[in-house]
Amino acid sequence: MARKKIALIGAGQIGGTLAHLVALKELGDVVLFDIVDGVPQGKALDLSQSGPVDGFNSTIKGTSEYKDIEGADVVIVTAGVPRKPGMSRDDLLEINLKVMEQVGAGIAKYAPNAFVICITNPLDAMVWALQKFSGLPASRVIGMAGVLDSARFRHFIADELKVSVEDVSAFVLGGHGDTMVPLARYSTVAGIPLTDLVKMGWMSKEKLEQIIQRTRDGGAEIVGLLKTGSAFYAPAASAIAMAESYLKDKKRVLPAAAYLSGEYGVKDTYVGVPVVIGANGAEKIVEIALNGAEQKAFDKSVASVHGLVEACKKIAPKLA
Ligand code: APR
Repeated sequence: MARKKIALIGAGQIGGTLAHLVALKELGDVVLFDIVDGVPQGKALDLSQSGPVDGFNSTIKGTSEYKDIEGADVVIVTAGVPRKPGMSRDDLLEINLKVMEQVGAGIAKYAPNAFVICITNPLDAMVWALQKFSGLPASRVIGMAGVLDSARFRHFIADELKVSVEDVSAFVLGGHGDTMVPLARYSTVAGIPLTDLVKMGWMSKEKLEQIIQRTRDGGAEIVGLLKTGSAFYAPAASAIAMAESYLKDKKRVLPAAAYLSGEYGVKDTYVGVPVVIGANGAEKIVEIALNGAEQKAFDKSVASVHGLVEACKKIAPKLA
C-alpha cells in the first residue's frame, strides 16, 4: 500500500513541528511548502537527517511549487502572517485572506480530494474563506482550534488538581479567541464533571473561573512569554490528532471549527463544535444541549465570528 501524502502549507514554526510529528509518527510522506525559498527545503533536509537517528522512513520534501502537493491525502494550512504591533484586525484579515485565496487555488488544482485542516488565524474566518476559495466540500475543510483550547484547559485542570492529564477531558465551544466557551459541565476528571468537583470541594469555584479565563487567554499568555512568536508545539500536536483521526478512520469526537448549516441554529458559518472525524472528514456535528448561560456565551462567540466574516466579505466581495 502506498504511503499517505501529507502536504503542509506554511513552513514556519507550526509547519516545521507538524513535519517532525508526521515523520515521528510515520503518518505518511511530507511535502513542506512555503513561499520563502530555501526555508521549506532547509527544514526538510534537516528533518530528513533526523530520520536515521529516530528510525523513521517518511520522506520530507521542501518546495515552493504547488504542483508538489499533487494528490495529497491531507493538507494542513499554517500559511499567513501573525498580527504585528500597529496592525489592525482588518489589516491582518486582508493579508491572510489573500494567502487563503492562493492556498485555496493550489489545493483546488492539485489536491481536490484532500482533507484540509486550517490553522491560520483568525481561525474561524480563515477556514470559512479557505473552504470557499478552494471549493472543496465543507465536510473536508475544518479548522483546528478546539483541540488546542481544550488541551490547554485539560493541562490547567490536571496541574491544579495534581492528577494525570490522561484522566481529564474537556470541552470548549465557540470561536477561537476571547469569546470561546469552555464548558465546565461537560469537562470531567475520570468522568466526574468539574461542576461536581467544585461541589465535592476539590477545587473552588473561583479557581475554576480563573482556569477558564486562563484558557481563553491561553494563546496570548504564550505570545507574552515568547515575545517574538506564538505557540507552536501544542497547535501542531492538536492538528496531528485531527489528521490521524481522518487517516485512520478513528471517528474521534473532537472540538473543531466545522461548517454549520443549521446546527446550533447557525448557518453558513465555521465555529467550534464537537465533530466526529473519520474517513469521510467531518462526518457528524454533535449538537449538545446548552443551558441558558452557555447558550448566551455561545451566541456571543458566534456573533464575534460573524463580525470577522462580514469584514472578510467587505475585503473580498466575491466571498459574499
Ligand atoms: N503561501 C505559503 N506560505 C506563506 C504564505 C503564502 N502565501 N504567506 C506566508 N507564508 C508562510 C511564511 O513564510 C511562514 O513561513 O507562512 C509561514 C507562517 O509561519 P510562522 O510565521 O512561523 O507562523 P506559525 O507560528 O507557524 O503560525 C502560523 O497559525 O496559530 C496560527 O496565528 C498563527 O496564523 C498563524 C499560523
